[in-house]
Amino acid sequence: MRQVRTLGLLGTGVIGGGWAARALHFGIDVIAADLKPEMEQWLRGAVANAEGALARLTFAPLPPKGRLSFTTDLQAMARQVDFIQENIPEQLELKQRVLADISRHAPADVLIASSTSGLMPSDLQRDMAAPERLLVAHPFNPVYLLPLVELVAGRQTSAAALDAAARFYSYIGMHPLRVRREVPGHLTDRLQEALWREILHLVNDDVATTGELDDSIVYGPGLRWAAMGTNLIYHLAGGETGMRHMLRQFGPCLKWPWTKLEAPELTEGLIDKMVAGTQAEAAGRSIRELERLRDDYLVAIQQVLREYNIGAGATLRALEERLYEDAAAAAGGGGSRGRRGECGRPAAAPRDVRATGVDRLQRPHDRLALPAGLWRCDRCALQVRRHRRGLPPLGTRALHRGNARGAQGRSAPAGAAVRDQLRAGGG
Ligand SMILES: NC(=O)c1ccc[n+]([C@@H]2O[C@H](COP(=O)([O-])OP(=O)(O)OC[C@H]3O[C@@H](n4cnc5c(N)ncnc54)[C@H](O)[C@@H]3O)[C@@H](O)[C@H]2O)c1
Repeated sequence: MRQVRTLGLLGTGVIGGGWAARALHFGIDVIAADLKPEMEQWLRGAVANAEGALARLTFAPLPPKGRLSFTTDLQAMARQVDFIQENIPEQLELKQRVLADISRHAPADVLIASSTSGLMPSDLQRDMAAPERLLVAHPFNPVYLLPLVELVAGRQTSAAALDAAARFYSYIGMHPLRVRREVPGHLTDRLQEALWREILHLVNDDVATTGELDDSIVYGPGLRWAAMGTNLIYHLAGGETGMRHMLRQFGPCLKWPWTKLEAPELTEGLIDKMVAGTQAEAAGRSIRELERLRDDYLVAIQQVLREYNIGAGATLRALEERLYEDAAAAAGGGGSRGRRGECGRPAAAPRDVRATGVDRLQRPHDRLALPAGLWRCDRCALQVRRHRRGLPPLGTRALHRGNARGAQGRSAPAGAAVRDQLRAGGG
C-alpha cells in the first residue's frame, strides 16, 4: 500500500468537508471531487470554519498545511491520489455504481474507504475492480475534532488494506476502532439508533419534549460518556462487586417494559414535534453558531481528557508526542521516527506559532524556533495556557517570579506558583 501524501475525497458535503479540514491540518494534500461545482465554495467555507477549533486543539508543532484543490472530474481525482475517502449520499445502489467506476480509474494499490453510516462493506465492494482495497471507515461529525473512526472489512477486504488504513487514520490524529464483523450500522450507530428510537417513542407518546430528553443526557450520562462507556460505568454502579452485582440487581428490569426498540411510525405529526422541539432548544441560534459552540467544548473536553490520558485525550496526547518527535527530527535533533512522517512527507519545520493564534508570546520565547524546546520552557507553556484560557500574557517580571519560585527544588513543577496565582485570579 502507498504512503498517503494526497487524499482524494468523493463527495464534499458535511462529512467530506470534515475529512478535508482534518487531513489538511495534519499536512496531507486533498483533491476533493463532487458532482456539483458549487460545492467548492461550500467546502472552502467549511474548511475555513474548522480552522479556529483545530488551531486550538493542540499547540504541538505541525507539518506545513496540505493544499486543497477541487474538481468535478471524479475519475481524474481517482488517478492522482494515494487514498480515496467516499462520502456521497447513503444509498447503496449509488455508492455501488460510483465505487465500481472509481475503482477502474484508481491504481490497484490505492485504498478506497467509505464513510457509510451503516452499509456493509461486502455489498459496497461487489462490483469493484481490486475489491480487496475497499473498507468502511466510518467517522463522526465533526470529523476534524472527533477522533473515532470505525474500520470494517468486507468479505473481500485484505488484512493489509485494513492495517494500512489504520496507520493513515492514526497519522491524522484519529482513533481507529476495528469492528470484528460487519453488521448493518456498525457499532456506534447501532447504539445511537437504540437511543434515537426510544426518543422518538417518548416524544410521540407525549411523555417528554426533545429538550427534556436532551437534558436527561446532558446533565447526567453525557458527562460520564466522554471518558467511560456504558459498560464500565455500569461496572461502577455495582459497587465493590462491580458488574456481577449490577447484573443481579438490575437483571430483572430486563424483563420489564423499559424500552421499545421497534421504531415508531414516522408520521407528519411526529416530525412536526421533533422539529418544533429542537427549534425551541436552539433558541434562535443558527446552525453555524451552534457548531462553533459545539467545537469549542469538544476542544476543551479533549484537552481535559488529555491530562488524564484517557479516551479521546489519550489519542490527542499520542498525536502530540508524535508531532513533537517529527518536528524535533525536522529541526535536526534526531527522533526515533526519522525525518519522514507516516504520510511520507519530510517532517518539516513547524508552522509559525502565529498561525496557531498564539501571537502574543513575549521575547525571547515568542516563536517556535526550536519545536521541542518550547514545551520544555515553562514560561512559554504558561503563556500558552493563559492564551487558551483567554487571559492576556503575563509580564516578564511575573513570569520570572513564577519560574524562580517553581524551580526551587520542590515537587511542584516549575511555574506552578504562577499557575496558582492565575487560579486565584492574580497575575
Ligand atoms: N452527516 C453525518 O453526521 C454523517 C456521519 C458519519 C457518516 N456519514 C456518511 O457520510 C456520507 C455522506 O454524508 P453527508 O452527511 O456528508 O452527506 P451530504 O449530503 O452532506 O453530502 C453528500 C455530497 O455528495 C455529493 N454527491 C452526490 N452524488 C455524487 C456522486 N455521484 N459523485 C460525487 N459526489 C456526489 C453531493 O453533491 C454532496 O455534496 C453518507 O454515507 C453518510 O451516511 C454521515
